[in-house]
Amino acid sequence: MAQANFTNRTVWVGDNLPIMRGINSACIDLIYLDPPFNSNQDYAAPIGSIAAGAAFKDTWTLSDIDVHEHGELADRNPAAYSVIEAARNASGKSMMSYLIMMAVRLIEMERILKPTGSIYLHCDPTASHYLKLLMDAVFGSENYRNEITWKRTTAKGLASRNLPNNHDIMLRYSKSNKVIWNAQYTPHDPDYVDKFYKYVEEDSGRRYTLDNLVNPNRNRPNLTYEFLGVHRVWRWTKERMQKAYEDGIVVQTKPGAVPRQKRYLDEQKGAPLGSVWTDIRPVQSQARERTGYPTQKPVALLERIIAASSNEGDIVFDPFCGCATTMVAADRLERQWAGIDLSPLAVKLVNERISEDRGALWGGANVVETLPKRTDLGVLPNYRTHRHRLYGEQEGICVGCDTHFPFKVMEVDHKLPKSRGGTDHPENLQLLCSHCNRSKGNRTMSEWRASQSA
Ligand SMILES: C[S@@+](CC[C@H](N)C(=O)[O-])C[C@H]1O[C@@H](n2cnc3c(N)ncnc32)[C@H](O)[C@@H]1O
Repeated sequence: MAQANFTNRTVWVGDNLPIMRGINSACIDLIYLDPPFNSNQDYAAPIGSIAAGAAFKDTWTLSDIDVHEHGELADRNPAAYSVIEAARNASGKSMMSYLIMMAVRLIEMERILKPTGSIYLHCDPTASHYLKLLMDAVFGSENYRNEITWKRTTAKGLASRNLPNNHDIMLRYSKSNKVIWNAQYTPHDPDYVDKFYKYVEEDSGRRYTLDNLVNPNRNRPNLTYEFLGVHRVWRWTKERMQKAYEDGIVVQTKPGAVPRQKRYLDEQKGAPLGSVWTDIRPVQSQARERTGYPTQKPVALLERIIAASSNEGDIVFDPFCGCATTMVAADRLERQWAGIDLSPLAVKLVNERISEDRGALWGGANVVETLPKRTDLGVLPNYRTHRHRLYGEQEGICVGCDTHFPFKVMEVDHKLPKSRGGTDHPENLQLLCSHCNRSKGNRTMSEWRASQSA
């Protein structure tokens, strides 16, 4: 597995696509992303809040660049290409543009995740059905783990002709079946406690239930014996049974009754957490954690995700980190963390929020405005040494104008320019004739093609 090529507590300011392209493969344990949802709204934090000035757009218009990026997906990930095509037919061009933006980023997230890693994509029903197909295309449907429903608020707006929309969705996928998982529990329902833990110990006041000690497998001669006058196949050996009886863990409620095991409520972990989360409230207007950032998520939500899908010291990454909720939760749970946001306000907010937790000990996030450079590609030969191989593969044809040229006028081009996170790796190289290479300049192939068709 590759080492991360960034330090703990890094916040990059900029577009997450070229930044992620510069991150080493397979170096991140957990990704949580809460991207724009294609809500057709633009967001801004109220003046006077600590997030004042934060704003982002969530309206999408199909551009020529999108169309060319979509075309490139046909080679890189044909399943993602088809999902986007289907979404355009079903829902229109705005959805197509949004999904192209998501697809190219999800492909990078899949690459940088460790084989034991998990990803949680936070979205809402506007696009969750298309995003799930896209996640299947990028991560593999076999790596789908859960669709988590988070009840954000109580239902409001009964006057409308629709049911009020009061939940978000988190799509949880893993990179492989070796995924890290720590089961989570919630307190038992009070009705369940009354019904199942109906006994209360007189001296200690502890609630308990009585559990079965009879072995379901009747063919266990070594566990078949008489205990307190009852002959059964037991779950425990006679010695263990005797010891538990002396410790008061095994009880017989009346002479002749089958002995049973006391199970105390306060020793249970609680009810296993399911995929519908109703116990985490949204950030309230008076809450201490409130920054005023539009779309701020509660720290408790992130703490649960991080506890379930990572261990202490692991790297947690949020490529749309907003007001840094993921960073705050990861820091509290002693994980390493890194985040990206277009807005420099993310840096201010991460520092303010974490220094509130840590006080004077907090030295500030490592703020980076340049693209990371991958260090996991080994020592690559000078990229020009690939000219002969590329000339053969392309059969002497320039990728830009589809014209045949002699070898000597062909130039090696980085499909994704180095200044945009592209590498010297052979996969990122192609030959263009010198005219096309000059014309393309520092643009991606999609941008260049879009400018030509405009
Ligand atoms: C829904 S908010 C995230 C809120 C965050 N989960 C929180 O609790 O504060 C989405 C964030 O993504 C950022 N964003 C949108 N497009 C981006 C891009 N291409 N690269 C980096 N950040 C982006 C926006 O600036 C915004 O802060």
